[in-house]
Amino acid sequence: MTLEAVKAVNPNAPTEEEVLSVHHYTARLFKFRITRPASFRFRSGEFVMIGLPGPKGKPIMRAYSVASPSWDDTLEFFSIKVPGGPLTSMLCDIAPGDRVLLGRKPTGTLVNDALLPGQRLYMFSTGTGIAPFASIMRDPETYERFEQVILTHTCREMAELAYGFELAEGLKDDPLVGDIAPGRFHHYTSCTREAYPTTGRITELISSGKLFTDLGVPPLDAETDRVMICGSMDMIRDTRALVEAAGLEEGSNARPATFVVERAFVG
Ligand code: A2P
Repeated sequence: MTLEAVKAVNPNAPTEEEVLSVHHYTARLFKFRITRPASFRFRSGEFVMIGLPGPKGKPIMRAYSVASPSWDDTLEFFSIKVPGGPLTSMLCDIAPGDRVLLGRKPTGTLVNDALLPGQRLYMFSTGTGIAPFASIMRDPETYERFEQVILTHTCREMAELAYGFELAEGLKDDPLVGDIAPGRFHHYTSCTREAYPTTGRITELISSGKLFTDLGVPPLDAETDRVMICGSMDMIRDTRALVEAAGLEEGSNARPATFVVERAFVG
């Protein structure tokens, strides 16, 4: 079925949006910005389907976390390029003026609503798993709910950390959280396959206690700490085990608790 035919029978069919900008960080990572329909609402941390018409006209859609803050007039996404990936191998060639498909129903569990109030929020990310946190770190509600907001980002190589640095540096100029985030937001980075001031997987940095020593905070504590995890399936499995060992419990929109997880989507 073509997109036109899908739209005719399905009011929930994706909308067509214009690509406004594209920036490639490395051979594997890029960000892009698209127009936002006036009707498009989302909570910081949610994902939405993004796609392109496939070779046979049938849309190829994949889930992407919205990386821009919810007040922004446009939408930003951070993507990996998977060689041979059905969507990303085409999406990495988009240019301003091109059209992409945007789903109408953002959803997800990496949201403030799925966590009980706490003192400290940890956002553990690897690779493109930083995307939902790019939105959450710029949401004033995050700073109303937590005194300290800690974003960890681990990548294979230093160049892959660039997007996170850009976000962290831009925070002081942010129109909504620029006055409240500095001093309360902490950006902690590590690399696993290149020399870098901090090396090692986030799981190793948690297990050894180095993360907490470096940040000058006590180890994970279910009383005070809340955790969001976003990365590959393996990263989620291993980080979840450590967080559960510290006594935290998985939450959802229906039943808020002390940690939440979501896979960084690729393909
Ligand atoms: P490593 O280089 O040791 O595999 P990827 O690009 O493959 O998604 O990886 C992004 C980052 O996630 C890399 O630094 C990688 O480390 C790390 N990583 C991969 N698997 C795990 C895991 N099971 N637990 C924690 N970190 C992981």
